[in-house]
Amino acid sequence: MAAVRTARPAKHSNDAAVCQFVSAVGALTPVFATPATRQVPYNAGPMSAFRPTGDELTCDGVTLAAIAASVGTPTYVYSAATLRERITALRSGFGDYPHALHYALKANSNLAVVRVVRAAGGLVDANSGGEIEVALRAGYGPGDIVFTGVGKTPVEIDQAVALGVKTINAESAGELERIAAAARARGTVAQVALRVNPDIASESHPHISTGLGTHKFGVPITEARAIVRDASARPGLRFVGLHVHIGSQMLGLEPLRRAAGAVMGLARELRDDGVSVEHLDLGGGLGIAYEGETVPSATMYTAALVDVVRPSGLTLIVEPGRAVVGPAGALLASVVDVKPRGNGTRFVVLDAGMSELLRPALYGAYHRIEAVTGRAGVPVTCDVVGPICETADVFGVGRSLPEPTVGTVVAVLDAGAYGSAMSSNYNRHALPAEVMVDDGAWRLVRRRQTIDEQLVCEEE
Ligand code: LLP
Repeated sequence: MAAVRTARPAKHSNDAAVCQFVSAVGALTPVFATPATRQVPYNAGPMSAFRPTGDELTCDGVTLAAIAASVGTPTYVYSAATLRERITALRSGFGDYPHALHYALKANSNLAVVRVVRAAGGLVDANSGGEIEVALRAGYGPGDIVFTGVGKTPVEIDQAVALGVKTINAESAGELERIAAAARARGTVAQVALRVNPDIASESHPHISTGLGTHKFGVPITEARAIVRDASARPGLRFVGLHVHIGSQMLGLEPLRRAAGAVMGLARELRDDGVSVEHLDLGGGLGIAYEGETVPSATMYTAALVDVVRPSGLTLIVEPGRAVVGPAGALLASVVDVKPRGNGTRFVVLDAGMSELLRPALYGAYHRIEAVTGRAGVPVTCDVVGPICETADVFGVGRSLPEPTVGTVVAVLDAGAYGSAMSSNYNRHALPAEVMVDDGAWRLVRRRQTIDEQLVCEEE
């Protein structure tokens, strides 16, 4: 049962005024300036959900310490207001240009998150049969779903065909054949797009780049024309679009422009062949300011894509994940040990590690780490680590925090995307609890997993 709590005890009755003040100065003074003063990034300025109110870190005015005290840690906390704002900013960036925003469920498919996205007008991009099921349970219809994925199983293909999803983004000529066969067997016609690989560098981390010729994704763009010609004549298929996604956490728009230009060129060639497509799906990839980087705004991003695509008049589909949900979430964790290190620094061991948030260990990713209470304390230098038996289980080296002691709660910020979604039971950690803050109140939207639930699928 979802627990609902009211936001603030009476002693914080002036929170709104403090928030307004922080918001007003946010344009000049980064509220999370760490370790040096930086330009206010998109997700840490006035649009940030997680900000100090007096000596406490809050999410939309709700004190994070209160959530941690009630639910325990590790716990993910999400801001519904931020999710709404970010969907709205992206959608309105397209103006009158025909478009559809399909939120990439892989970033975070907690049902409560997905329902907020839906209510804000976002559609979905699913990457597996499981994600399609989540979309349906969140209230989406098949026509709201694009289905992507480099290795769709026969069962997943049949599920998508039977449902009649808006588009299946096919990864290969072989997959197009399998989709066509599944559609014919069911006496239906599947709407398909072809994912092309344009051999364009995303200039992002190599592990999250997908658009080079050496990567497993899509078909080489040079082969796409022949494949589409063939597929568009195949019974069981209706060819509706082209799809490209060259990478994630992109901080520049140029690679996205180039990818858009490449599929535009292909669309023109196809038109010359008598094959007309209806949409261009340019994937996701817009980055967020984990470390105070300058990132394109929603308006800059959408304008860049529309500029390239406008001459075609084709509907523009985007599949943002991180840019929607990343800054909307934080991971709360408690300090379980402090180990002094001779050199004046200390290991600060948390109850959350790579099993709850894999990004630092997997990509060397940076996430800001903030004290939830006692923020005015004298800062000390800490290596913030997890409890997992892996040397890579480190959240941050040389971080500055007010002297932590056992029981101190910290928030790992910008953890809404690819945080909970990539968590695991490694070391038999429970999947963490998740909380949604909405309209001044918070509620549990996933309770912490129990050890019985971990073992239920195993032999007795
Ligand atoms: N569309 C497709 C086909 C994708 O493969 C992805 C992400 C997206 C959309 C959404 O991309 P976004 O807007 O979130 O950048 N685990 C990594 C990120 C992997 C992204 C995989 N594909 C991380 O934590 O950084």
